[in-house]
Amino acid sequence: MFQLFMPAGAGYFAEEGVAARYDAYIDVSIPFYRATLERIAGHVVRRLGKAAPGALVELGCGTANLSREVMRRTSRFTEALLLDHSPSMLQVAREKLGDRDRSGLPIRYHLGSLQDPGWANQLEPRSCTAILAMLTLDHIAADGEFAGLLTNVEQRLRRDGLFVLAEKIATQDGPSRAVFEAMVEVRHRHLVEQRLMTTAQAARWRQHLLEEDHLRSLPHLVRLIEASGMRVLFAEGVALPKARSRMTAETFFQASEPVALSADQLSDESLACAIAVLGCAVR
Ligand SMILES: C[S@@+](CC[C@H](N)C(=O)[O-])C[C@H]1O[C@@H](n2cnc3c(N)ncnc32)[C@H](O)[C@@H]1O
Repeated sequence: MFQLFMPAGAGYFAEEGVAARYDAYIDVSIPFYRATLERIAGHVVRRLGKAAPGALVELGCGTANLSREVMRRTSRFTEALLLDHSPSMLQVAREKLGDRDRSGLPIRYHLGSLQDPGWANQLEPRSCTAILAMLTLDHIAADGEFAGLLTNVEQRLRRDGLFVLAEKIATQDGPSRAVFEAMVEVRHRHLVEQRLMTTAQAARWRQHLLEEDHLRSLPHLVRLIEASGMRVLFAEGVALPKARSRMTAETFFQASEPVALSADQLSDESLACAIAVLGCAVR
């Protein structure tokens, strides 16, 4: 049914062939992709050990790799709601997970935008034990819309629940932006050399990252999280070199998993991260 409707601005991930290719390249192109899913799932399981069962929500679920890893480890949820604005990504998610997990947990798929409160309106206040977003929230350009999304998350999250966001980190310009762009070049070359994409597909992928990703620094993200009424419980990440000239393929492809970020890194406006994982709770 969701195939009949395409939200405005579904963009790159709704384009022909992108969803079908995604799983074939993502964890080769990001060597710590799988380790990041596993670490987030581990955090969710530990937190849920103490929490009453509630809903699992994944924002911008894509092909559902993160939800699948979480549900593989635990079924301590009352339901799962997976949201994405790309019909084809959501279709792949549904083909993987179906309408129930192995314990009978109902899984719902919501075709819609992160910025539209439609997903949140389907959930009771304080009903979610885990709300997750990976490589997704940087598609929100305006801070006001980002803050609106965080407010919806805060209102739906149980007091003992966990919100995890995992995003690329840099400022929109300046030295950390230059490091991010160098990382995109490294990944772009690798995609073509490894024949994970054609030259034209890789060029479109690069354009999407450079033009449609709206990156934020770690302190900026923390400010938005705290303004929404949540606090950061833990921070992990794959930090990139400070100098663009040191952002090489060797540096990037040797990183195997996120590690704990220090308080200094968390407050560093100029730090670029290939990914940073912030675990948050209601204050
Ligand atoms: C890079 S993929 C990440 C998918 C998945 N979270 C993962 O880690 O593999 C970004 C996903 O977010 C979705 N997305 C981006 N902006 C969105 C928005 N404003 N509303 C809903 N979904 C969005 C895209 O359609 C895509 O499936």
